[in-house]
Amino acid sequence: MEFVSMFCLFAFISCSLLLLHSIFNLFAFGIKKLPLPPGTLGRPYIGETFQLYSQNPSVFFASKVKKYGSIFKTHILGCPCVMISSPEAAKLVLVTKAHLFKPTFPASKERMLGKQAIFFHQGDYHAKLRKLVLRAFMPESIKNIVSDIESIAKSSLESLEGRLINTYQEMKTYTFNVALLSIFGKDDMLYREDLKRCYYILETGYNSMPINLPGTLFHKSMKARKELANILAKIISVRRETKQNHTDLLGSFMGDQADLSDEQIADNIIGVIFAARDTTASVLTWILKYIGENPTVLQAVTEEQEGIMREKEENGEGQVLTWPDTKKMPMTTRVIQETLRAASILSFTFREAVEDVEFEGYLIPKGWKVLPLFRNIHHSPDNFPEPEKFDPSRFEVSPKPNTFIPFGNGVHSCPGNELAKLEILILVHHLTTKYRWSMMGPHNGIQYGPFALPQNGLPIMLSHKTSS
Ligand code: HEM
Repeated sequence: MEFVSMFCLFAFISCSLLLLHSIFNLFAFGIKKLPLPPGTLGRPYIGETFQLYSQNPSVFFASKVKKYGSIFKTHILGCPCVMISSPEAAKLVLVTKAHLFKPTFPASKERMLGKQAIFFHQGDYHAKLRKLVLRAFMPESIKNIVSDIESIAKSSLESLEGRLINTYQEMKTYTFNVALLSIFGKDDMLYREDLKRCYYILETGYNSMPINLPGTLFHKSMKARKELANILAKIISVRRETKQNHTDLLGSFMGDQADLSDEQIADNIIGVIFAARDTTASVLTWILKYIGENPTVLQAVTEEQEGIMREKEENGEGQVLTWPDTKKMPMTTRVIQETLRAASILSFTFREAVEDVEFEGYLIPKGWKVLPLFRNIHHSPDNFPEPEKFDPSRFEVSPKPNTFIPFGNGVHSCPGNELAKLEILILVHHLTTKYRWSMMGPHNGIQYGPFALPQNGLPIMLSHKTSS
């Protein structure tokens, strides 16, 4: 009797498994039968890389969208890709079906930033890191560093007076110093120059061929990375000895609950500098260009910022900016939003399908890259009328859902967005109340490397308003 019931149970389980397997096959076959999205894959291996990178990417995307619609396939950098340019589809990839699309980067980037950096992960480890990063960059934490950021902004601008400068390069110095402040508090002072020297060598290798042989840029870059990790290890060990509590990013990474190794901390610190510096510096460069070209917008921003100074003076609050002051800058905030939209410095981001996915009636095969096109979403007349016009007043009303995503969306969206906006507001406050600037040479071109930037980094002459 016992044998019979065992047999029945075994038969039942086998049949169920078989049935499940058939259903799965049917389903998988069903997906496999779906068509690939429209588009062309170009030549073997090189695909359409040349067409994308040899021109303004907007032209490439616009011609494809016109021909194939908001979802199309192509082949770039050795990978088959699906590009998507509707807000709804971007939300599906980044939020609703985020588990089916993992972040993906070239292996050389992973080696340079460090395998354990937040960008490359999903699941529990990613969630833990994200909590630690958000803790350091949420308003409650960055409120405390407003006056320190202000000191950096003031001395940066003072150092630029009366010189012909490359705006982007100088803004990179500013955003680098703010990044170090937010990561180490004031602990990095001793090591600042060494950190800077190593990081600057490291970044020269970001877009180089990943050939690790003596003499190559990549090799120099990897050496600098090692040195950087050694400096970070020293800063960490000094902190361990002093046992003080810190509210900066390193403090968050070293907290009791964090349970991160020194290597994990180093990878993530290098990663955050990478994410924080060039992005924010590009946006600042675009702001100087846009408001420099739009006198009425510049006047409105200047009046708003002067109003804040006047009000502080009348209330006997002194000249030092506070967190509440930065919340009284609606016009400047709209200028930042419009700059993020118009410049769309990150034209797109990369994901990879972790399995065959059915997407809007098409098959996205496992392993294919999927690129939500931020720039197209921000420049579609359906989402923003007259998209090529710089018009901060369009942000007097909220944009339609999922149409304004300069900081991404979903589990990997930018945890540093509050800090980025804060450091931009503070620099613009001092820039517009104390300085004037003129753009030198042609400034209508755009270069992409990898962020969209005004041609030649926007050369300008900056002078104090009180000087003749
Ligand atoms: C205006 C400046 C900035 C822009 C436009 C920007 C934009 C973005 C975008 C679009 C993403 C998501 C990428 C994706 O989904 O693949 C992202 C991620 C990230 N950003 Fe930013 N960012 C800026 C500044 C900053 C700053 C100042 C920090 C740090 C202080 C920072 C730290 C990060 C980190 C750590 C991630 C990865 C998050 C994750 O994978 O969970 N960013 N950023």
